[in-house]
This record gives sequence, structure tokens and C-alpha cells, in this order.
Amino acid sequence: MVPVAPGMMEKLKYKERELSLRRFPLREKEPLRAWDAADEHLLKFLDDEPCAAGSRVLIFNDAFGALAVALNELRPQVWSDSFLARLGLAHNLEANGLAAQSVPFVAADGVPEGPFDLVLLKLPKSLAFWEDTLLRLRPLLAPEARIVTGGMIKHSPARAYELLESILGPTRTGQGWRKSRLAFTAFPADGAGISSQSTNLPDAAYTLDGDDLLLNNGPNVFSRDHLDLGTRFLLPHLPRTDVPMEVVDLGSGNGVLGLVLARQCVRAKIVGLDESYQAVACARKNARAAGLDETRIRFQVEGGLQGLPAASFDLVVCNPPFHQAQAVGDQIAWGMFHQSRRILKPGGRLLIVSNRHLGYHVKLKRLFGNCAVVASNRKFVVLQATVS
Ligand SMILES: C[S@@+](CC[C@H](N)C(=O)[O-])C[C@H]1O[C@@H](n2cnc3c(N)ncnc32)[C@H](O)[C@@H]1O
Repeated sequence: MVPVAPGMMEKLKYKERELSLRRFPLREKEPLRAWDAADEHLLKFLDDEPCAAGSRVLIFNDAFGALAVALNELRPQVWSDSFLARLGLAHNLEANGLAAQSVPFVAADGVPEGPFDLVLLKLPKSLAFWEDTLLRLRPLLAPEARIVTGGMIKHSPARAYELLESILGPTRTGQGWRKSRLAFTAFPADGAGISSQSTNLPDAAYTLDGDDLLLNNGPNVFSRDHLDLGTRFLLPHLPRTDVPMEVVDLGSGNGVLGLVLARQCVRAKIVGLDESYQAVACARKNARAAGLDETRIRFQVEGGLQGLPAASFDLVVCNPPFHQAQAVGDQIAWGMFHQSRRILKPGGRLLIVSNRHLGYHVKLKRLFGNCAVVASNRKFVVLQATVS
């Protein structure tokens, strides 16, 4: 992701137009662009080889709507697992004089309405999510559909192209352009020669050590096939009490923190929030399997805590994300800490785990005026900040 000079709002130039595009969550001094060279590469390709009138177009994993805004006249559908991408899409359409509803957004746990003649795919970070998407895409393709995949070369593993080839059809990669690459897949008219695998990847599942809590994980769910080491380090430090309390599991993933908390704090009411549709679907499934109904714990798709009232929670637990798609950074975590402070009651606590080297205790101390180290080892630290 190319940084932009702070204060400069760079615009994407496309067909005599200059498109204003912003990343989500919105930040005043956003140093990163809302698009990458792979988006521009895809647009350049379509300029050279436009699609036929009346083609049905699908765009997968459009980060903040750059492709859908630029290609609005093709009436594309957008398919994505990110609520922040959905917010970005709606905002950026309107910012460029287009109706937010002009591009239907289909969440990754749903199915877009095909058949599609042209599919533009941006490579996601997770290969399991990529494989699942390609399997689910196959029945949605028109005969001889054109499938073009864009990615930054450093984030494009060979396995991603192998999956294209084995699931959708013969694939060739083009020349690199500004560190991005496109791949072109020819979907056969009759699907011949393409492996007949099932139409999606099954959930991966594991149970916690010494516990029967079953955690199902969809293809795009964080730490899909094992308990994350940071989460493992935080679990013994979650409260165990019968005092009533209102809790948020922020960035809940498969729901593990909230579910463990619900079982050991029997009078707690918990809300789990995640920006991934697949994560929320899995967390709900995991809560049902654990026999916990919505009066105890409910999961919701959200991009942070904006929707929650101020000074109304006793505890926020969080294993904060340290990247947004392929862009690494602590900006999302920093936003989460700010929002947590707003929704916590006086005396309320934010309890997080993080990699030691990220130095979050400095940030938390600055924000809350205090920060206690609850536990630490060579790699992780559990920190607690309290609203005074
Ligand atoms: C490090 S994972 C932790 C998941 C889970 N709590 C665990 O411990 O296994 C961070 C989670 O935050 C989610 N996330 C990222 N940005 C978010 C945002 N702005 N709002 C809500 N969730 C977000 C990601 O989808 C991911 O599931």
C-alpha cells in the first residue's frame, strides 16, 4: 500500500475523471491510499480490452470500492467479507456523485446473483478464503466467462494461481506493472477438465485444551485451524465472577474470548463485534453449540464501537488486529482503544493481549492515564487500562 503525504488527498485518475476515495475507518490524516497498483492495473486492462455491452460483472474483495466506483457504468456487484469495505464502498460512491445503492454489496457468507461474464478478483490475504471463494464462484460463471485476478506481487503466492488453475481453468500470468500482477483464467464453456471438488471449503474446527468448547472457523476467520497464541495467553486472565456486568468482545473472530467469558461469568451480558461477516456467522454458530443464547451473548457485524452508547460497559476484551487486509499497522488497534475508553463506565476496564514489541502500554497510558501489566512472557503481554 503506497503511503500518501499527510494532508494530501490523492485521487485515482481514471478515464478523464479524478476519483476521491477514502479508506475506512475514516481517519483525519490517513497516510495510506484507498487503492493499490493492482486496482489501477485491472482498470488499465479493461481500458485496453473493454467488456461487451450487457455483460454481468462481479468484483470480489474490492478494498474500499475503488473498482466499483471507477466501473460504475458496468453495474457491477461487489462480493466481500469486510464490513469496512461495505462502508467504504457506500461512502466513496456518494463522494463521487453516484448512488450508494447503485452497486449491490453481497457479504461473503451470501451468494451473488450470477451468471457472470466478467469477474474481477483482488487476491485476499487468506489462501483458504481464496480457495473457498473460487469454489463458490464456479457455479456462478457464464460459459467462457473472463476472470481476471489482480494482486501486488509480494502478496501473490504461487499457490493462489495454482488454485485458480485447478478450480476455474487454465491460467496465465501477465507482466508485472508497478509491482502488481494480473492473472487471466479461461473458464471453459463446458467446465471440462476442471476438478470436481465440493462447492465450498468446510469449516475448520478445534476445541480448547481441557475444555469441550467447540470453535468452528470459516475460511476467512482469524487463526482458522488453531487457537492463536496471543489469545491462548489472554484466556487465563479473563475474569471469573458471578457479579453482573456488561462486556464487549471487540474483534471477536470466532467468539472465543466472549464464549469463555460467558461460561465463567454467569451473570455477564456480552456483545461480540467483528467486521468480518464470516467471523460473526461462525461465532453465532459456536455460541449455539455451547448452549449460550442471545440473552447471554450475541454477535454482530460492526466496524468498531461507534454504534454503542458512551459510558455503558464494564469490560472490553480484545486481541487487536495488527493489519487491515495486507496493510500492517496499529491504526485499527489505536482506534479501538479510543472507542473503548468512550464506551466504558467509570471504573470500567479494557483488557488486551498484544505482541510485546508493539508497545501498546505507552499508548494506553497516554489515553487512560494508567496501564497495568497483568502478565507477560517473551512474546506477549496482557495489559489492563481502567477508566478513572
Ligand atoms: C487478532 S483477531 C482476534 C480474534 C479473536 N478475538 C481471537 O482472539 O481469536 C482480530 C479480529 O478483529 C477483527 N477486526 C479488524 N478490524 C475490525 C474493526 N474495525 N471492527 C471490528 N472488528 C475488526 C478481525 O476481523 C479479526 O477477527
